[in-house]
Amino acid sequence: MITNWIETTSQKYPLFIGQGIIKHLNSIIEKVQLSPSSILIITDEKVGSYYLNDILGLFQNRKNVYHYIVPCGEKAKSIDTFYRCHTYALSNGLDRSSLIIALGGGVVGDLAGFVASTFMRGIPFIQVPTTVLAHDSAVGGKVGINHELGKNMIGAFYQPRAVLYDMNFLQTLPFDEIRSGFAEVIKHSLIHDKTFYHLLKSNVNEPNELTLSFLQSAIEKGILIKASVVSQDEHESGLRAILNFGHTLGHAIEGYLGYGNISHGDAVAIGMLYAIKVSEKVYQKDLGYMTFYTWFDKLGYPVNILRTLPSNELIKWMKKDKKVKSGEIRMVLLFEVGSVEIKSVSEELLLSILLEMGE
Ligand code: NAD
Ligand code: GLY
Repeated sequence: MITNWIETTSQKYPLFIGQGIIKHLNSIIEKVQLSPSSILIITDEKVGSYYLNDILGLFQNRKNVYHYIVPCGEKAKSIDTFYRCHTYALSNGLDRSSLIIALGGGVVGDLAGFVASTFMRGIPFIQVPTTVLAHDSAVGGKVGINHELGKNMIGAFYQPRAVLYDMNFLQTLPFDEIRSGFAEVIKHSLIHDKTFYHLLKSNVNEPNELTLSFLQSAIEKGILIKASVVSQDEHESGLRAILNFGHTLGHAIEGYLGYGNISHGDAVAIGMLYAIKVSEKVYQKDLGYMTFYTWFDKLGYPVNILRTLPSNELIKWMKKDKKVKSGEIRMVLLFEVGSVEIKSVSEELLLSILLEMGE
């Protein structure tokens, strides 16, 4: 079991990563000095069907262990499900010393974390991620839900007390979800580490090369990059926004298609391709757009999806991005592999590139 520390201004917490480490959940709860009066596990239907009994088994000597199962997918990040979690917690007498365990992917992590951040003004929670994508979402303390007018628009910065990432959970993850999560790994390489990018590019050229053993090391590296950014700027006053590389268009695609109709990582992959093309125009240099396009295509990302989406509508959604300032769209641009910056980009340029990629 490898332990890294995630250090932010508000909290320092351990990240445990390895195979089969879920069995240490009780000792980890003690290690982070929690002695909860009750525990609420929040999970989704699919993850629950695979793993809930195992977790409940670990807690058989504890009293007051509850679980609440939410629907699978993005639709669970809704005000409705959020409210139901609170109702369940209140009905079962959770109190200020209770602990919430988020068992699932990014959806459960974001939702359960937001419930924890708001229940009686905040109770501790532990992230137990079960997807590749959640290597990103479980670290850094962004928790929240969607509004029908914009993704992740209701939320908080609220750090977990620990992150326990058991790689064995990934054995049941369908390939499409592995690919989705790998997009965020690619993102971490592009924003920060050229060598890491070349390692990914040279090792993973076909879907079947996304093996669990390769993913474990890539995930660890991705988490360290995320942790380093978050430790410098927990509340996104500046630097942290680079983690949104690919998300301006990515979130717009998710919003336009309706939450859950495209995976987050697939949308971010297309958003990264778009950001690379925009960067080539802004910096007037060749960043290898076609190489990225071919690579993403081979891995199965929907590289031609913009042909089916109305550019004007996507621009409207992009204007709802949290980085927008005084109506100007600001995007994370790739200056070179491993280095990004945030720049305002004119609507005219953004539209022309959407139209070009949609041809
Ligand atoms: P998800 O949580 O919906 O999981 C994807 C699917 O995989 C679901 O159907 C789930 O039931 C299933 N699943 C999960 N674990 C499984 C397992 N081990 N075996 C089999 N099936 C499993 O989606 P996700 O891609 O993990 O997360 C996406 C969400 O994360 C988005 O809402 C996104 O906004 C959010 N996100 C948040 C942050 C952050 O910093 N908070 C960062 C990136 C993404
Ligand atoms: N995924 C963006 C962030 O954590 O800031």
